[in-house]
Amino acid sequence: MAEKPELDVLLGTERTFPPPSAFARDAVLGDPAVYEQAAADPEAWWAAWADRLEWIEPWETVLDWSDPPHAKWFDGGKLNVSANCLDRHVAAGKGGRVAFYWEAEDADEQGEDGRKEVTYEWLLDQTQRFANVLKGLGVGKGDVVGIFMPMIPETAAAMLACTRIGAVHNVVFGGFSASSLKERMEVSEAKALVTADATLRRGAPMPMKEKVDPVLAGLPDLKHVIVVNRCDTGCEMKPGRDLDWHEALAAANPVCEPEPMDSEDPLYILYTSGSTAKPKGIVHTTGGYLTQVAATHRMVFDLKDDDVYWCAADVGWVTGHSYIVYGPLANGATSVMYEGAPDYPGRDRWWEIVERYRVSILYTAPTVIRSFMKWGEELLAGHDLSSLRLLGSVGEPINPRAWLWYHEHVGGGRCPVVDTWWQTETGAIMISPLPGITTTKPGSATVPLPGIEAGIFDRKGKLIAEGGGTLVLTRPWPAMARTLYGEPERFVETYWQRYGADTYLVGDAARIDEDGYFWIVGRIDDVINVSGHRLSTMEVESALVSHPSVAEAAVIGVPDEATGQAIIAFVTPQDGVEAGGEFTAELREHVAEKIGKLARPKTVCYADDLPKTRSGKIMRRLLRNIADGKELGDVSTLRDPSVVEALTAQVENATEG
Ligand code: PRX
Repeated sequence: MAEKPELDVLLGTERTFPPPSAFARDAVLGDPAVYEQAAADPEAWWAAWADRLEWIEPWETVLDWSDPPHAKWFDGGKLNVSANCLDRHVAAGKGGRVAFYWEAEDADEQGEDGRKEVTYEWLLDQTQRFANVLKGLGVGKGDVVGIFMPMIPETAAAMLACTRIGAVHNVVFGGFSASSLKERMEVSEAKALVTADATLRRGAPMPMKEKVDPVLAGLPDLKHVIVVNRCDTGCEMKPGRDLDWHEALAAANPVCEPEPMDSEDPLYILYTSGSTAKPKGIVHTTGGYLTQVAATHRMVFDLKDDDVYWCAADVGWVTGHSYIVYGPLANGATSVMYEGAPDYPGRDRWWEIVERYRVSILYTAPTVIRSFMKWGEELLAGHDLSSLRLLGSVGEPINPRAWLWYHEHVGGGRCPVVDTWWQTETGAIMISPLPGITTTKPGSATVPLPGIEAGIFDRKGKLIAEGGGTLVLTRPWPAMARTLYGEPERFVETYWQRYGADTYLVGDAARIDEDGYFWIVGRIDDVINVSGHRLSTMEVESALVSHPSVAEAAVIGVPDEATGQAIIAFVTPQDGVEAGGEFTAELREHVAEKIGKLARPKTVCYADDLPKTRSGKIMRRLLRNIADGKELGDVSTLRDPSVVEALTAQVENATEG
């Protein structure tokens, strides 16, 4: 079995890293007093950050928390997100500033088109034009627009265009399957979808429009599909429904006034996995969200005017929403946006990009760092990485070995590392070092940001100052999710009931050490984190049992050196089905079709029955112990104790293999 992350955590606790003195001297936040100031008056703290945005009408109250867990931030205020991200920079004479250095995966072959300097002015033009296209299609305030796109500048323009007219975007990660897209469009009643003909993946076009076309007809609310031509694949277009992005924008009116939005108007929906098979539609609103993403992007990444910032996530996840699009653009930052795979055409592609654009801030996920570790530091040696001054990590616990490698080999030992803990639900970074203030401990996300309050409940339901337990957030924050789309009760039940209506249940287990540092251990619910991507065990189980030859399935997450966690599936096939080899390949493909490739089980084990209690409940704990090679103890209460032996043997084989 893979090395247990907890053991690895212990390995790193000895060393600590204070901020380099020059870094601390010039930092955006360098005075530790900010923590006390913000704690003494959190509303004043957030109001000061909100003041840095452009409001059409000022707010009346900073926070209304009279009816928890329903918060209102900056109520009464009006603003427009696209105007904050684009117009005000252009108005300040920064229209020519680069918003994104966009790099195509096939940049070298594409010539001029392969590397674009996307300016604020260009983005504003595209945004206004597309906003008018949407309006022309009858899409208006409050309507939902699906976005299923590759990592291209048009994706940001599409999102911003929605915000310009008050439409609510619902971005679906481009790697998800057609049926996942369909489900997310269906439940949110999306009126229009923005997609591309294809995206490049390791040098070859991977169709997007063609992939989802078969499910679109089954969506009665979806009246319009706008298609960006990225790869010239000449995908089929349905007359009357499908529009070519470039043609539509060329013909559109270039001016679209930004719609004044209430601070609490919804900004977007983003589906994420919960502990049931049905994904949760996290709803974020306007003023508080923009305030906190802009604030945290500036303070955590120590953003300066001359920085070149690269968040190497995909726009389809919350990290892309908050730290590729809204935070950086609200701050007028210059970012890198890269379209493709990290190992194409060579495994040093990232380092070539860092060198080419003189990237100074790099934000990525532990799983990627571990891939680079595996590929070896020689790949970095040929590149000048001296422009880097700050490194960030997000999405899963970073094991100290990966942290130290990142610090030493990517950061040359001189760059602070910010391990940022947050979630789709929190909207913005919550627990993280401030790089000019915080002494870091590899493996710990350190302490809550100023204005944020976190705590840990032990088994007895007591808030503790030191030790392990369940992580909670004990004070409302501006970017907090406001509800689950169409499921307001589920929002309250999932997050705000266990410890009372004003305490947010995170769903992570964590430990707090003697210095008050938080160490995130992992999820406490049935959520698996594969390469920083959230999947629910039930979602994968439902996908498996939807295969006609599967009678029953149970899924667990196990520690994995490369991907953080990996999925092991325990399957009972229908009678007469030959388990193993080809069937395993077929099942993995089936899951990829139902959810997406990232949900494919790494290992599939078979048994005629799964370990169940006599009342028929699958004993996941036992499955977990089997996978961990732990002593199983008394299994006599099982309906059929012999299944355990069969499964144990298969897990052992799979591990050796
Ligand atoms: O378990 C935590 C883990 O990822 C979960 C949130 O996943 P998602 O909503 O997809 O958002 C990922 C990007 C923000 C959390 O509940 N997680 C995220 N960041 C960290 C982390 N675990 C440990 N350390 C982190 N820095």
